[in-house]
Amino acid sequence: MRALVTGAAGFIGTNFVRQTLARKREGIDRLVALDLLTYAGNYANLTGLESDPRFRFVRGDVADRDRVAALVAEEAIDVIVHCAAETHVDRSIVDGAPFLVTNVHGTLALLEAVRGRPGFRCFLHVSTDEVYGSVAEGRSTESAPLRPSSPYAASKAAADGFVFAYAATYGVPAVITRCSNNYGPYQFPEKLIPLFVTNALDGESLPLYGDGMNVRDWLHVEDHAEALWHVLGLRAAPGEVFNISAENEMPNRALTEQILRLLDRPANLVRYVADRPGHDRRYALDPGKLRATGWRPQVSFADGLARTVAWYRERRAWWEAIKSGTYRDYYDRMYSGRLAGSSAAPREPGV
Ligand SMILES: NC(=O)c1ccc[n+]([C@@H]2O[C@H](COP(=O)([O-])OP(=O)(O)OC[C@H]3O[C@@H](n4cnc5c(N)ncnc54)[C@H](O)[C@@H]3O)[C@@H](O)[C@H]2O)c1
Repeated sequence: MRALVTGAAGFIGTNFVRQTLARKREGIDRLVALDLLTYAGNYANLTGLESDPRFRFVRGDVADRDRVAALVAEEAIDVIVHCAAETHVDRSIVDGAPFLVTNVHGTLALLEAVRGRPGFRCFLHVSTDEVYGSVAEGRSTESAPLRPSSPYAASKAAADGFVFAYAATYGVPAVITRCSNNYGPYQFPEKLIPLFVTNALDGESLPLYGDGMNVRDWLHVEDHAEALWHVLGLRAAPGEVFNISAENEMPNRALTEQILRLLDRPANLVRYVADRPGHDRRYALDPGKLRATGWRPQVSFADGLARTVAWYRERRAWWEAIKSGTYRDYYDRMYSGRLAGSSAAPREPGV
């Protein structure tokens, strides 16, 4: 198998690549890691892998059609795990344009590169539970309607649409996985868990949106990586979708309390700030289809969160390098005003 992993220097890509090469997964002859190294990509995440003869890193844009087509041909790629994306909802609210380019044009460029390619086995689009929108009750199955609320989610839903279209129109062997919120090592500290852990370690405020009762469904990134390999092994029909969830639903407020407890930091670090516009109240996936094929998550939330918190505590140099750069400007833009108007008690939703 000759695999191309896009977004390989990001959070999920890094974990997927490291796990794949460390476990000496049988059948992997080549693993080409493609990443543009945007603000969210970090080449240092892949340090040490260069000595593996199966591994090659290429800096490039997934939306660059010619470059992508040439790479797929030159490396005789037969499997693609497509993680590259603009991923931060808050940034998409400020400007959706980069999300359209990378998430939609990028997916299209990859699909074009494999269309009609003899012997090509599988294009796996790593999508998200956010395409289903907020779920008041029950859990989203793979056939639930797509109702994206944020520009990020809209771009992922549009990319899913292209995957369906290329499967139906051209018979491209392409499948979609939709996972819930991931947590684990190497996550860029703009996302909730590493943001709160690193802020708490520095004694800084934890800016919690709205009333803190938005519910997310947490999946350890190791379980996610295993699920992706499991789906690749299923040889699913073109256009099939699989939800990936460990069914760990939790309000953000409860998650924040757990983080503070693990770090032995005081509850008064929490500041309730103005909510994110269009903030989905709850995501909840029904993973029954994938479980019926034999996949099971292995990491309990208590163990996974403790290990994750310990990882950031022990890797101060990793996250300080990020947080001291341009990230600081972003953080100030995003949170200074909000923190100035924050309160110590929960706010009403949408306030
Ligand atoms: N993290 C989660 O909780 C989560 C949940 C559901 C779905 N997903 C999906 O999983 C995938 C990976 O997410 P992540 O959390 O690892 O994201 P991330 O932001 O940590 O990493 C994204 C990576 O993509 C790279 N990239 C961005 N634009 C690129 C371009 N034009 N060309 C090449 N590379 C580019 C970045 O440099 C970065 O390394 C995304 O598709 C995301 O939508 C993530």
